[in-house]
Amino acid sequence: MQLKEKVAIVTGGNTGIGKAIVLELARQGANVIIDYISHPEATEELEKQVAALGDRAIGVEADVSKVADLEKLVAAAVKAFGRLDIMVNNAGMETRTSVLDTTEQQYEKVLEVNLKSAFFGTQLAARQMIKQKSGGRIINITSVHEDWPMPGNTAYCLSKGGMRMLTRTAAVELAPHKILVTGVGPGAVATPINLTTMQNPAAMARLDAAIPLGRMAEPQEIASVVAFLAGDGASYITATTILADGGLIQSSPGL
Ligand SMILES: NC(=O)c1ccc[n+]([C@@H]2O[C@H](COP(=O)([O-])OP(=O)(O)OC[C@H]3O[C@@H](n4cnc5c(N)ncnc54)[C@H](O)[C@@H]3O)[C@@H](O)[C@H]2O)c1
Repeated sequence: MQLKEKVAIVTGGNTGIGKAIVLELARQGANVIIDYISHPEATEELEKQVAALGDRAIGVEADVSKVADLEKLVAAAVKAFGRLDIMVNNAGMETRTSVLDTTEQQYEKVLEVNLKSAFFGTQLAARQMIKQKSGGRIINITSVHEDWPMPGNTAYCLSKGGMRMLTRTAAVELAPHKILVTGVGPGAVATPINLTTMQNPAAMARLDAAIPLGRMAEPQEIASVVAFLAGDGASYITATTILADGGLIQSSPGL
């Protein structure tokens, strides 16, 4: 129970990796604000799962591409639990479009949901943590594509590359306040974002063959890294990203 008494916000928290993070932080004793934009019933079910672990979770509907909605999340944490210790900027999306055919609207959407949300999520969480004077952890769910080009997914790569520099720069700025900022960079994880690939046996075989560990990750295998970074064992880790990719980018020239 290394996160007992801690309070976390997880954006995009009712599906995939976000859901696994909510459950893992709760398993470690944290109370959690679950941000979501759709499927309130999934959030309610998750709140019950967290309660069964002995903690509290509160679902808050908020579109993280809007700063006012991010403010709502921090306010909800403070109102319900009195503080904020862990901010997980997890919400994300992609359009799978190339540099040649991405529209202005697609560009803006991906950059706003992935990068703007992490920037202002970091800013607002840090302001609250500074008020509390007891440090904190900000964890950005980036991707191997923070550094590794993915042709046909340009705006996504751009957003994750931006999150990489957000993580490093904010970490240096916030270090005097004992706020540690890190990234977790998954490779391929079995979640709704990959549904099209997962429903295509040939694409799955290609993907598995490109990953040294021979398979996609389960969401829990990303959540456990986040819980580590949120805990005491990671007290000297900041301004960097931990890749949890089964060795993918070391071995594959691209998929
Ligand atoms: N699954 C993978 O292979 C993989 C690999 C690398 C990185 N990631 C990253 O992991 C994170 C989680 O993705 P996932 O794989 O669990 O997929 P997912 O589609 O299940 O999760 C994305 C979540 O973000 C939420 N979201 C989207 N727009 C939002 C908005 N405007 N406001 C609030 N929430 C919003 C969605 O509702 C969803 O809950 C994303 O940032 C994604 O880029 C995933």
